[in-house]
Amino acid sequence: MIVGPNFYIIIKGELFVRQFFRYLALAVFLAFCMAGVAGADIKLPDPLTDGGMGLFQALKQRASAPGGDFPTVPLSMEELSTVLWAASGLNRGDKGWTVPMEHGLPPYVDIYAVLDSGVFKYDWGTNSLMDVSKEDIREIVGRQRFVASAPCNLILVSSRVGLETVTDEELKKQFAAVAVGAMTQDIYLAAAALNIGARYIHSIKFAETATALSLPEGDEIICLMILGK
Ligand SMILES: Cc1cc2nc3c(=O)[nH]c(=O)nc-3n(C[C@H](O)[C@H](O)[C@H](O)COP(=O)(O)O)c2cc1C
Repeated sequence: MIVGPNFYIIIKGELFVRQFFRYLALAVFLAFCMAGVAGADIKLPDPLTDGGMGLFQALKQRASAPGGDFPTVPLSMEELSTVLWAASGLNRGDKGWTVPMEHGLPPYVDIYAVLDSGVFKYDWGTNSLMDVSKEDIREIVGRQRFVASAPCNLILVSSRVGLETVTDEELKKQFAAVAVGAMTQDIYLAAAALNIGARYIHSIKFAETATALSLPEGDEIICLMILGK
């Protein structure tokens, strides 16, 4: 039997191996936890892109639902998918959107969906809702009471990265405003066609909402569209 320094080295080696596997197990566990968080992203059902109400009828019906009596029934996932697609979804292969963008750039206004189940960022490329937070932040978004009880708040945010090829600061603002105009009108029209209540809101708690969304520096909240049935 080996005793002395060699034996000590073997014991030390075993301890090292044991520690190594303990850390490895911990790392695997943490990786699973993080995958679980990322797994909260939601793949939306395909949007409705055929049939439905005609455009001219939708134009005749476009209106803001009154704030005082704003509808409180949540949209189905298919309805949400359809409204988001109308706002900035792909409509011509992988490089063409329902709204016009300067130089055909990918949409440089992001949409955050604030629901009772949390906050999500719309990914038009995969037609998914990317998990941002599990908190219901509707209470802190709007300055008017009915915003908190609207089942869905869509927050439109100009993206600094999306607009980085536009060097003039004034033009960045103008291009984002044009995009928001087109997007919100598409939301109004899709909502009219689906018989969903919609209202454009500028009265927002901008700083608190930007913090709750963890917006990157330079991204700016422009407006809110509230939705409900
Ligand atoms: C730029 C802009 C800002 C608005 N801000 C608010 C707002 O903060 N709160 C609100 O209740 N409605 C807001 N609205 C909704 C308007 O009050 C509504 O569109 C207007 O009364 C006209 O009604 P209509 O959309 O049915 O034609 C806003 C609309 C626009 C276009």
